[in-house]
Amino acid sequence: MRLLSGISASLALLLSTVYAQVSWTVSPFNPPSIPLAVRTPYLSAWLPQGPGAALNGAWPTFWTGSILGWAGFVNVDGTSYNFLGTPGVPGVTFQKAVQKSFTFTSTQSIFVLSAGPIDLTVTFLSPVEPNDLVKQSTPFAYMSVSAMSTDGAAHTVQVYSDISAEWVSGDNSLKANWSTTTGNTLIHQVSLASQTVFSEVNDHTQYGSAYYATSNVVGATFQTGADVTVRAQFIRNGVLPNTQDTNFRAISDNWPVFALAHNLGSVSGTATTPVVFAVGHVRDPAIQYITRNGNQNRSLYFWSQFRTAADLITSFLGDFNAALSRAKTFDTKVQTDANRISTDYTGVVELSIRQSLGANEITVSKNSDGTFNTNDVLLFMKEISSDGNTNTVDVIFPAWPIFLYTNPQLGKFLLEGLFRYQASGLYPNKWSVHDLGAHYPQAIGHNDGGDEAMPVEESGNMLIMALSYAQKTGDNSQLTTYTALLDQWTQFLITDSLIPANQISTDDFAGPLANQTNLAIKGIVGIKAMSQIASILGDTAKSANYSSIAANYVTRWQGFAQSTTGRHLTLSYGNSASWGLSYNMFADKLLKLNVFPQSIYDQQTAWYQTVTQPFGVPLDTRHTYTKSDWEIWTGGIMTTTAARDIFVSAVHKWASSGTSSAPFGDWYETTNGAPQGFRARPVVGGHLALLVL
Ligand SMILES: *[C@@H]1O[C@H](CO)[C@@H](O)[C@H](O)[C@H]1NC(C)=O
Ligand SMILES: *[C@@H]1O[C@H](CO)[C@@H](O)[C@H](O)[C@H]1NC(C)=O
Ligand SMILES: *[C@@H]1O[C@H](CO)[C@@H](O)[C@H](O)[C@H]1NC(C)=O
Ligand SMILES: *[C@@H]1O[C@H](CO)[C@@H](O)[C@H](O)[C@H]1NC(C)=O
Repeated sequence: MRLLSGISASLALLLSTVYAQVSWTVSPFNPPSIPLAVRTPYLSAWLPQGPGAALNGAWPTFWTGSILGWAGFVNVDGTSYNFLGTPGVPGVTFQKAVQKSFTFTSTQSIFVLSAGPIDLTVTFLSPVEPNDLVKQSTPFAYMSVSAMSTDGAAHTVQVYSDISAEWVSGDNSLKANWSTTTGNTLIHQVSLASQTVFSEVNDHTQYGSAYYATSNVVGATFQTGADVTVRAQFIRNGVLPNTQDTNFRAISDNWPVFALAHNLGSVSGTATTPVVFAVGHVRDPAIQYITRNGNQNRSLYFWSQFRTAADLITSFLGDFNAALSRAKTFDTKVQTDANRISTDYTGVVELSIRQSLGANEITVSKNSDGTFNTNDVLLFMKEISSDGNTNTVDVIFPAWPIFLYTNPQLGKFLLEGLFRYQASGLYPNKWSVHDLGAHYPQAIGHNDGGDEAMPVEESGNMLIMALSYAQKTGDNSQLTTYTALLDQWTQFLITDSLIPANQISTDDFAGPLANQTNLAIKGIVGIKAMSQIASILGDTAKSANYSSIAANYVTRWQGFAQSTTGRHLTLSYGNSASWGLSYNMFADKLLKLNVFPQSIYDQQTAWYQTVTQPFGVPLDTRHTYTKSDWEIWTGGIMTTTAARDIFVSAVHKWASSGTSSAPFGDWYETTNGAPQGFRARPVVGGHLALLVL
């Protein structure tokens, strides 16, 4: 390891790990909120932590923080232990299992709890299947439970779990209905009695159904009914009566729950084969997408392979062992790759992956004869937490590294909907649109041009991502199809990016500003990217012209953007005391454009080490808050390992500090690690930036 300078060494000490204090062992650290079932914007179940909560120390919640009833009990020789959720069950006695350890990887959250003489291993697996469109679009996650005796004796064990109807709405006063089917698979289905397609309440979807299912093996039983009734039934008897409550009622009216139980029989000192539960939420159509011929309904891709949700669920459960093995391979690959940076970095990346991919849904359209057109794949991303827009360009952009790392084709499918809409001529502005729709899951465009304008930001982002995809894959089809649009955005950047007008950047919460140095970087990189695109497409004259414009702009930009001290770039031209994270230089490095001179990289590397706060480097001089994604991107442009690691350690410290109980927030305060409001956003895919350089 290289020697740190005096100031860096003391900062490194300040940034050394502070873990949330918990009484169980944790690996790699205790995060703000633990992903349990995180696969889509509507299948997003977490265990909030703050300073730490056991699996049975808090209710699981939706990403917003509202409770998702999900309970678990295990009976051991007739004594009942609660292992999941915090249910109260009047009239019966049970104990709390004691959590011994918690581990997370990129795909799994694994808890070990002791229930008397039994250790229970509860594994929440949210598959990450970037190379399989059917599996990646499957809106289900697994919970598996296995037991092992710890005292040398055999014990009789039964396992129970239920979900409530809170999984189908953001309003618990609404009426739900439900049914249970009992073939090879026990499947509970619960729905809102009155549904509104493409609508949300408090960010929960208001149509489709939630499912809770398990294989109908010997000893499997089920029940639906009031929470206290059904849970007491299991606690007393260790078995459910296979009965259904058909008194359909409001979600919160005697809380109907949908329960499943397994008899593990006699359990010895060898861990049992796990019993597996599948939880998910299915809706169809999933997305409404604007075309010149009106709004098109799009379905999750898995529908092209399965006729019914029941078929999908049975296949999903049957695939558990293979899915777990694929997950372990993926987890190991991420660990190996990220450990090349540091172990701190590995934990940050592992915590980011399910969250980032879980904001996306892969969709397919139908042919006129009703069959699926599997050649027409579009990916949709919800801008979770900040405003719920669909396919926000400057949210896809920070997340972009996760697509480059896992499967760049998913990135292409994200861009394709944006390209197609703007190529249709329905969008009136000369710069790139901000998003495809104000409210997920509607991608109905902005034909009035009234979307949140980020002209330089989004135009640069589209050019950078389009070239990045082509460079990574050698697939130039989008560049060919959408050359005119790409050129149009470049023309705009040539006009407006050297002297950027008063406007917002992606960091819109910081307000508008004229002459933003970092925005100019984005625009210049965008122009140079189009020079490369023109070269790929064989237009050498255009390529040379744009290349010389970019080079000329860099020289002039240096005159505008340097602080008079010569020690750092400014936040905005002429304000020498100002500075900010120049994270847009990451794109220069990613695309290997070398449009900015090495001296700027060296200067920024030296500078950030002098302005670090206890929890990292502020976003800019307007505030002391920062963005974790942009910190890692900035880490990517540092010319020394020590400077890079200041950013990595800062994000690790924030993620492991116990100051938040919300799913990994990307916006936080550098002085004390206080969260700033964003949570569960896909932009944490940007934490993979160091894996794609
Ligand atoms: C529940 O309500 C939905 C929507 O009204 C309806 O389509 C479905 O058939 C109902 N299911 C049951 C089991 O009553
Ligand atoms: C899209 O789906 C909705 C809800 O099922 C339906 O009402 C509408 O007619 C469909 N639109 C088209 C164009 O198929
Ligand atoms: C932006 O910077 C240019 C170049 O320094 C300067 O001419 C212009 O006045 C600045 N605009 C604003 C609004 O500060
Ligand atoms: C270079 O591109 C700019 C901006 O599109 C254009 O105004 C100029 O005429 C071009 N120059 C040449 C030599 O093609």
